[in-house]
Amino acid sequence: LNFISFGNQETVDGNHCSCKSQIKNLRELAKLFEVSLKLTVPDEPNVEPLIEPAKFGDYQCNNAMGLWSIIKGKGTQFKGPPAVGQALIKNLPSSEMVESCSIAGPGFVNVVLSAKWIAKSIENMLIDGIDTWAPTLSVKRAVVDFSSPNIAKEMHVGHLRSTIIGDTLARMLEYSKVEVLRRNHVGDWGTQFGMLIEFLFEKFPDTDSVTETAIGDLQMFYKKSKLRFDLDPEFKEKAQQAVVRLQGGDPVYRKAWAKICEISRNEFAKVYQRLRVELEEKGESFYNPYIANVIEELSSKGLVEENEGARVIFVEGFNIPLMVVKSNGGFNYASTDLTALWYRLNEEKAEWIIYLTDLGQQQHFHMFFKAARKAGWLPDDDKTYPRVNHVGFGLVLGADNKRFRTRANEVVRLVDLLDEAKDRSKAALIERGMDKEWTPEELDQTAEAVDTVYADLKTNRLTGYTFSFDQMLNDKGDTAVYLLYAHARICSIIRKSGKDIDELKKTGKIALDHAAERALGLHLLQFAETVEEACTTLLPNVLCKYLYYLSEEFTKFYSNCQVNGSAEETSRLLLCEATAIVMRKCFYLLGITPVYKL
Ligand code: ARG
Repeated sequence: LNFISFGNQETVDGNHCSCKSQIKNLRELAKLFEVSLKLTVPDEPNVEPLIEPAKFGDYQCNNAMGLWSIIKGKGTQFKGPPAVGQALIKNLPSSEMVESCSIAGPGFVNVVLSAKWIAKSIENMLIDGIDTWAPTLSVKRAVVDFSSPNIAKEMHVGHLRSTIIGDTLARMLEYSKVEVLRRNHVGDWGTQFGMLIEFLFEKFPDTDSVTETAIGDLQMFYKKSKLRFDLDPEFKEKAQQAVVRLQGGDPVYRKAWAKICEISRNEFAKVYQRLRVELEEKGESFYNPYIANVIEELSSKGLVEENEGARVIFVEGFNIPLMVVKSNGGFNYASTDLTALWYRLNEEKAEWIIYLTDLGQQQHFHMFFKAARKAGWLPDDDKTYPRVNHVGFGLVLGADNKRFRTRANEVVRLVDLLDEAKDRSKAALIERGMDKEWTPEELDQTAEAVDTVYADLKTNRLTGYTFSFDQMLNDKGDTAVYLLYAHARICSIIRKSGKDIDELKKTGKIALDHAAERALGLHLLQFAETVEEACTTLLPNVLCKYLYYLSEEFTKFYSNCQVNGSAEETSRLLLCEATAIVMRKCFYLLGITPVYKL
């Protein structure tokens, strides 16, 4: 749980996270134990069932020990936590879900689910579709603020991580029936535009005719104009006036600004297309018309103070104040973010706003979150909605353990990185003979981005991860290639049976008699609770881990249980099909597109 950090009080550790009691499959079990608790300790009506997945057995109920410490002084009939546990078992309403219960250790109640019930749940999913296994979150609308590169600057690996993690979180929330506003908070406003526009006028007096190819590399253009700005005081002066004109709405300056944005936007679009990520641009400039009012509101609440010519908000726990109006009267990153938050809460009526940037920006987010709490926009605690979270991630490191850069010490261009990853993936797939099974298009599609995406999502290191193509493509480890390969193999088992799987789904029955069958079945059933956990903790790697274990459980099943030609063929083919369906849903949620033949 290191890799993602949360807003100030929003630290999530295994115990604190509220997901435990919400998890879908556990809910039914929790209901049973709720009844039992009421019967066992009628004088303690407020005790909530504590249920979690168990190491031994399937699930466990952990109430007995805590209950004991509450009731032991009150003249209880029980002799200790195990006796409380026994009573919980005795009072548990009978249900087709539970096979048996037993006491372990100091009083844990181990629950074994009924194999019949697991099988039935899988049969139902095969008929009604995997969407019936989607968790339901209590939130209706969320904003995911992700990717968010800056105009005229290169999109770098940090933006890639933001894009990939943000897209996956958005997909998981969408799957959980949350309406997600996917926001690209592009850096398209600020003083740098004065210099860019002035430089554009200088190079291309006829701005209308400027094309992308004329400017060429926009980043180079940025660098050159910056150089000019730093070295030539006259140019600097002009650039500063240009900002005033732009912000004042001068149509000529507006047009030049729009041109520059458009060129960048087209560049960004190429990356989004390759990653198959959709998001809606509402850049910093969008919020500009609202800033003055928002600052006014904050001032009227007494939050804003004068400080060395600037206007600032002091927030507890930070040595420096949050600057919201610069000494020259201009607005900045923080004023824009406060305004965007105001807009998202009041105009867009979002209940949960999630931001993805590298950890370097953590302080910025924590400061303006606090300011918003002070203004009464957000509740003081982090469990009640509306809620905000900063999902930070570590740097991407090169093999030398330093910031991932090219040999020339330049920021690695995203397109180059994706190109190289793709070439290498393709070579790896061909080496595995996949070119004989797949068409060139299918090969191409599989190679595109999947490895970069998966390598990123599975990590959970606060300090970032080491970027390594070799690691990414290792087909024995926890990699996208391995998982895609596992999935393709399952599809081919089904294909080779020669059976019409859709027909089997309608009438076929699943039996989970072998231990390996049962283990696979149980793991399949845990899909929904895993997605829910990944959503509530904002940790996509939880889903990666699940997917990896799924392929392992499948391998164990397949090496122990003969499928084709066996007496249990129908049941086992259905298990194969269910595994493939769940795997595909995981791929989809992780933004990976598998290629397979039916
Ligand atoms: N443009 C910023 C950057 O490249 C990221 C913006 C993140 N979103 C936000 N609302 N501040 O670092």
